[in-house]
Amino acid sequence: MTYVVTEACINCKHTDCVEVCPVDAFHEGANFLVIHPDECIDCGVCVPECPVEAIYADADVPAGLQQYVELNAELAKDWLPITRKVDPLPEAKHWADVRDKLQQLKRA
Ligand code: SF4
Ligand code: F3S
Repeated sequence: MTYVVTEACINCKHTDCVEVCPVDAFHEGANFLVIHPDECIDCGVCVPECPVEAIYADADVPAGLQQYVELNAELAKDWLPITRKVDPLPEAKHWADVRDKLQQLKRA
């Protein structure tokens, strides 16, 4: 089991989640964060910290967001860890309510 960051994080990146993770399992891309499945200890404390409710246990990821389970595992291998909160992205407020944002994801 692991926890997974899903679509709502894209272009928001509030980073409240990283402050509470006891094992620094979050990894950072340009406009999205992911959780490394081999580092996450399934404590769940990051879930209520996310203002846009982007984080789920893998078993609870809603239908339609299932591809984010694999995406977290894949991108966490390439992206560097993030352990401190930083400012959210400038357009976070706008993007918080936008759906179907996967095409916005910057992988590099
Ligand atoms: Fe970190 Fe716990 Fe969230 Fe996993 S569930 S990413 S260990 S805070
Ligand atoms: Fe993203 Fe939410 Fe963390 S927007 S950076 S998962 S607090």
